[in-house]
Amino acid sequence: EKGGYDHFMLKEIFEQPTTIADSLRGRLVLNESKIILSGIDIIQEKLLNARRIIIVACGTSWHAGLVAEYVIEELCRINVEVEYASEFRYRNPIITDEDVIIAISQSGETADTLVALERAKEQGATIFGIVNVVGSSIARISHAGCYTHAGPEIGVASTKAYTAQLAVLMLLALKVAKMKGTISEERFVELSQELNSVPEKVEWVLKNEVDNIKAIAYKYKDAHDVLYLGRGYNFPTALEGALKLKEISYIHAEGYPAAEMKHGPIALVDDTLPVVFVATKDVYHEKVISNMQEIKARKGKVIAVVSEGDEITHSIADDIMTVPVLDEVLAPILTVVPLQLLSYYIGVYRGLDVDKPRNLAKSVTVE
Ligand code: M6R
Repeated sequence: EKGGYDHFMLKEIFEQPTTIADSLRGRLVLNESKIILSGIDIIQEKLLNARRIIIVACGTSWHAGLVAEYVIEELCRINVEVEYASEFRYRNPIITDEDVIIAISQSGETADTLVALERAKEQGATIFGIVNVVGSSIARISHAGCYTHAGPEIGVASTKAYTAQLAVLMLLALKVAKMKGTISEERFVELSQELNSVPEKVEWVLKNEVDNIKAIAYKYKDAHDVLYLGRGYNFPTALEGALKLKEISYIHAEGYPAAEMKHGPIALVDDTLPVVFVATKDVYHEKVISNMQEIKARKGKVIAVVSEGDEITHSIADDIMTVPVLDEVLAPILTVVPLQLLSYYIGVYRGLDVDKPRNLAKSVTVE
């Protein structure tokens, strides 16, 4: 049942080239330069006139929402807010029938998300579900939606469901941008082709980087704290990397926007602190490099996820995890993969049950 892998988590990490391709198949139609998502057609009018989009989710799905905020605002020029479902359901948010809510959930049964949606629906909002489990409660309460095609996810730590959510959210952003006319045809084609290349780029990481990541995991397996930093599109990746490490290895980890470091967390840095930078080539790259130098100046250990061919970052970081070059908008689908592997191997080297971490359940159906 684990298909020859030691754990479901590892199997699910390795399934990602397939599950991302499955989530794009029949939707990303390159030769016609279009995206087919019938759920979007159903709520097209609402979306075109939306005052704002509110994304509601928990945990890893919330991180996917954060990526979507950056991408939808950039490509579609619609105001996006990302809410923790548990907070949203208890405060008294201002919701009208001009709001479109995007709910993101692997299980489709997360109690906080479900109740948040019920409340918003009562107030007239349109609910769009991005869910993995077919026929689940969140799928049923949604007005329209789009399934992720990740297949059953057994490991408690979400991996392939996350990258499938990101793939679907990228499709959604591209489709809405085209509908609204906020993207040029040239950029649409370029991003579509890049999105289509993601499965093979994930495959590249799984083929070429595993031994290297294992060695890095072994080196840092006894750390007490790990800081994860990123900027822009890769800031949510830093949060997700930190969450994966906490869940699987029980090592305390924090994700931060790299520039926030100087407002507090830099006080933690000494020669025992590993700092993981998500530092692929994008508009923030030079800034990220100077953040890296700030850590090195305080003798912190820098582990960096970098784009293939980036020699400068190579010369600064202590340890490097390489990914193929990919458009910055789509980078989060790829940059999370080495971080999933890093957490997995650290958990394994610490002798932990990575598929069923203590105190956690796969689906949180209580508040
Ligand atoms: O099923 P959902 O996507 O609604 O679950 C949300 C979170 O409970 C989930 O992502 C959780 O954070 C995972 N354990 C993360 O690996």
